[in-house]
Amino acid sequence: MKTELSRTLGIEHAIFGFTPFPAVAAALTRAGGFGVLGAVRYTAPEDLARDLDWMQEHTGGLPYGLDVVMPAKKVEGVSEAEVEAMIPEGHRAFVRATLAKHGVPELAEGEASGWRITGWMEQVARNQLDVAFDYPIKLLANALGSPPPDVVARAHDHGVLVAALAGSARHARHHAEAGIDIVVAQGYEAGGHTGEIASMVLTPEVVDAVSPLPVLAAGGIGSGEQIAAGLALGAQGVWLGSIWLTTTEADLHSRALTAKLLAAGSGDTVRSRALTGKPARQLRTGWTDAWDDPAGPGTLPMPLQGLLVAEAVSRIQKYEIDPLLGTPVGQIVGRMNAERSVQQVVDELTRGFEKAVDRINRIAGRSDS
Ligand SMILES: Cc1cc2nc3c(=O)[nH]c(=O)nc-3n(C[C@H](O)[C@H](O)[C@H](O)COP(=O)(O)O)c2cc1C
Repeated sequence: MKTELSRTLGIEHAIFGFTPFPAVAAALTRAGGFGVLGAVRYTAPEDLARDLDWMQEHTGGLPYGLDVVMPAKKVEGVSEAEVEAMIPEGHRAFVRATLAKHGVPELAEGEASGWRITGWMEQVARNQLDVAFDYPIKLLANALGSPPPDVVARAHDHGVLVAALAGSARHARHHAEAGIDIVVAQGYEAGGHTGEIASMVLTPEVVDAVSPLPVLAAGGIGSGEQIAAGLALGAQGVWLGSIWLTTTEADLHSRALTAKLLAAGSGDTVRSRALTGKPARQLRTGWTDAWDDPAGPGTLPMPLQGLLVAEAVSRIQKYEIDPLLGTPVGQIVGRMNAERSVQQVVDELTRGFEKAVDRINRIAGRSDS
């Protein structure tokens, strides 16, 4: 599965994987794909440095990348405490009441919230970049907009390609104008922050909009046949996020959550603002239902919602409160029915891709097999 982009990056398969887990990213790179480590949960630069050290040791000189979250709308010159102070008391009371309704225990005295994600505040992302450019990363990806011009220039100075996610052709054109090297066309089906256009429609629109820039197809891909479809639509590779969550290398910290993912069908996700304030596809749970209920107070804009719910999400995860337990995941969750290693997933993807290509060749009359 070779494309111009996979040749540029020196990878065997044009399969890119976003994951918050270093062990998954490294395993994908070792399996011949391209692992991209999500940095948004690293509030302390030294934690990111520790995990990038680990990635270095476990990728044998093969290429990998880093994904940061720099929103197009910036929160600058304001401290985290000042942002916190903007959260209305009514919303805090709603969180307390929802947790109480489900009997969610408090964290122990002095126990920090594990889910406290501030990586989408520009300064936090910039601190992450200061660390990242000390490592031989080959790709820097950004969710939620084009990275600022100085970040693009800095990446290029380090010989690092820049990718950005786009949910529409308009976003993609903006990325091209901002000097981005690779556009990830991420459709509605995808896990995490996502737009309203399905991959089948979005991929060729983005390919046309930014040609000759390479495009990666993302959203709803979990089989080799779907990879073949993405490449047939003009993409130079695919970008998968959800499928890695149920690999043996993933570290979800909750058997109950893994079980929920394995049991979920493709209709069990919802695009909700409940976690971050921006629409993000995730498992539908009592938590998303509470926030999406018109009788509730409604969600706050990013980054307020994320700060508001951070402690609650940690408590739900720690105590595995089943009705509320969830994670960002895409509609492809319906095919994630067994735990497998990253290598097994890649083997299955490449086999399925070959089968799809053979099938199309037969249909096109190019093969007798
Ligand atoms: C658990 C999870 C967390 C995600 N977090 C991020 C993120 O921090 N940054 C980002 O660029 N994309 C993020 N995404 C989106 C992925 O990069 C990717 O575009 C998406 O998962 C592709 O669609 P799929 O889920 O159908 O494979 C996340 C996806 C998931 C499932």
